[in-house]
Formats: sequence, C-alpha cells, structure tokens
Amino acid sequence: MPDSQELSQPPRPATAGALSPGEEKPAVEFRDIDIAYGKFVAVRDFSLSIAKGSFVTLLGPSGCGKTTILRSIAGLVDISDGQIMIGGRRVDDVPIYKRNIGLVFQSYALFPHKNVFDNVAFGLKYRNVPKPEIVRRVGQALEMVRLPGSEKKLPSQLSGGQQQRIALARAIVFEPQVLLLDEPLSALDANMREEMRVEIKKIQKETGITAIFVTHDQEEALSMSDRIVVMNAGAVEQIGTPQEVYDTPATAFVANFLGKANMLAGTVSRSGQAVVLATGQTINVACPRPLADGSKVTVVVRPQKLSVGAAAGANRLSGRVVSASYLGGSAIYEIDIGGQTNIRANAPISGRVLREGEAIDLGFDPEGCVLLDEDGQRIS
Ligand SMILES: Nc1ncnc2c1ncn2[C@@H]1O[C@H](COP(=O)(O)OP(=O)(O)O)[C@@H](O)[C@H]1O
Ligand SMILES: [Mg+2]
Repeated sequence: MPDSQELSQPPRPATAGALSPGEEKPAVEFRDIDIAYGKFVAVRDFSLSIAKGSFVTLLGPSGCGKTTILRSIAGLVDISDGQIMIGGRRVDDVPIYKRNIGLVFQSYALFPHKNVFDNVAFGLKYRNVPKPEIVRRVGQALEMVRLPGSEKKLPSQLSGGQQQRIALARAIVFEPQVLLLDEPLSALDANMREEMRVEIKKIQKETGITAIFVTHDQEEALSMSDRIVVMNAGAVEQIGTPQEVYDTPATAFVANFLGKANMLAGTVSRSGQAVVLATGQTINVACPRPLADGSKVTVVVRPQKLSVGAAAGANRLSGRVVSASYLGGSAIYEIDIGGQTNIRANAPISGRVLREGEAIDLGFDPEGCVLLDEDGQRIS
C-alpha cells in the first residue's frame, strides 16, 4: 500500500479556531490542483467543491490518486499547482497540526498498548481539554459508534469491525471540520462491511460532519454517497450523484467501472434515431442531437434495463442464453446476440428460468440507453 506510516498516525492537535468554518463557503474546495511525486504526476487538474455536511466519495481503481488527494487535504503531501481551501481559507501554508481534520484508514492504526479510552482521548488531550470534559466526550463518541462502556478494553480484545469503530470515534471526538476516510472498510469481511456502511453514514448524518470517503468499491460508493467523483489515472472522469454516474455515465470508463454495462458497438442511422449494431440488429435510440449516418457509436445499456420475454420496451433483441444464474426472484442471464456473447440481463423471473442454449427475447427502451462517441465520451 502506498499509504505511508505518517498517515496512520492520529492527527496532531489543531489550535482552537485556527480555521473557523465559513458560513456559506464550501467545506473543502480544490482549484485545479496538480500533485507530483518527483517527475510522476499522480493527480492532474483536480477541481472539486464539497458542500458543508455532505458525503463525497472518491471512487476509482487502485493507483488513480485517491489517497494522494486525501493526503493533500490533511497536509501530508504538497500540491505542485493550484489551491486547496478548507472552510473558505487557503491552507497551502497551514501546517498539518493546524488543519482540524479527522482521519480513518484501512488499517485501524490504534495504539496497541493503550486502552480504548486513551486511544479515543488522544486528540482531546493534545488540545488540552479538561479531564472531565474528555471523559464526557469519549463516552459520547463511544456511544455514537455503539461501543459504550468499552473504555478499558485493549485493541487486541476487539474484533476488526470494533477496532474500526474505535478509530472512527477517535477521528470524530474532537469535532473536526472534515472527516477523511481512506478505504476504511476494505479490511473487514463482507457482512461487517455492509453493517459499517450503514453505521458510518448514520454517524455522518447525525453529526453533520463533512466527509470525504475513498473507495475502489462501486457498491460502497453508490450506497453511501451524496456525490461521487469517479477518477481514472489521476484525473476526474465524472462528478455526480450516485444515480447520475450510474444511469448516465459520462465516459466508457465510468460505464464499465460502475458495475456491469452492456456495450453495443454500431453505426448511426436515421440521423441518430437508430443504431445498426455490429451484430446486424437495429435498435432505436434517443439521441439528444442529430448525428451523421455511418458514424461509429457505442450504445450502453445496464443489465437491469433489459427485460426478458414478452415485456415492454420499444427495442427488441433476440439471442441465446449462454448461462443463467437464479438469484431468487430474479435471474442473471449471459446472452449471445448475433455473435456478441457477453450481453447481460438482470431481470425478474416470469415463469421459469431459461436454460443454456434456449432462445431469449430482450426488450428495452431507447431512453434507457446512453450513446458514446468513438472516443468513449457521452454524446449529449
Ligand atoms: N510516495 C510516493 N512516491 C511515488 N509515487 C507515489 C507515492 N505515493 C503514491 N504514488 C503513486 O501515485 C499514484 C497514485 O497513488 P495513490 O494516491 O496512492 O492511489 P490510490 O489511493 O487511488 O490507490 C500511484 O501510481 C502511486 O504508485
Ligand atoms: Mg489509496
């Protein structure tokens, strides 16, 4: 992991009031930042404005620059160009310990020999908060993460999920301006991950804290975020609500990264009202503007937009079942349509589950498709 040791250390104290939150100002704003490690540019022209109290997720594959951006907010990495504002104030020259930021990472990074109380109290002690106040606030934070009364336990006596809750309590106990979470759930097993998703989201709402969450897991991003920033190779591909990025991906990368997308290659006909697929079938599309006949496009259709059998939809595609997985109530079919074998439909079952080799009819609406140009950019 590129996450360095310094990142796993708890934040140093902030001087009280060093950065008072701006009233209407974005909680965090990036203006055209570049970040380089030596000659290697890890982040390019990154701009983003994060509203106070919102939950924003940086989503992208490993190595795309997510951690680097989080590090820049915390002041753990220098930006080579651009500006970062926290609460409307430029922080380029504000040292790490004066940035009032809570951090949670994949590795829980608790002090192993300190008990839960001392781990959570760490940021408050540094800030010279009086003892009774510390006791009260640690108790409150532990209640919030649903581990009340665990003050005397050692990290080794806690499960992974519980340790991560303590790390969360430690990050929020001093009421930071911004909470940074770098893949905090990736070390947990699947059940615990889902539980923690809900918990983190709930705590974020209750406290009204501005959260920036990093993950490479699209489900996590879709289920937790107010807005998602989809990143690829150090640059932003798309910023939008979960539904926007899922339903109307701006690029081929976004379409493919956010779950399964059927990518149907073809050429434009009827000035963009229809597309003749490489498989020979013609479908109607809802193109927002006229296109030159013969130009190459890709039609993107999500598996859930394909209905199976006699269902509705202005478009019809027929093919053969390559494989079927019954999920209880619905099924996932892999389908061959005229030689393109990787078409996926995720549809409710009406009647019985079709078997491998059987003929299958698919229906979908032109409005359920997104059109990409030859460069993989959405045509709008
Ligand atoms: N300290 C470093 N020195 C040199 N290259 C680094 C350093 N940290 C990260 N990188 C590189 O920068 C890119 C982005 O890394 P990172 O921000 O950790 O990505 P992510 O968190 O999205 O996986 C990667 O190519 C990584 O190898
Ligand atoms: Mg990372």
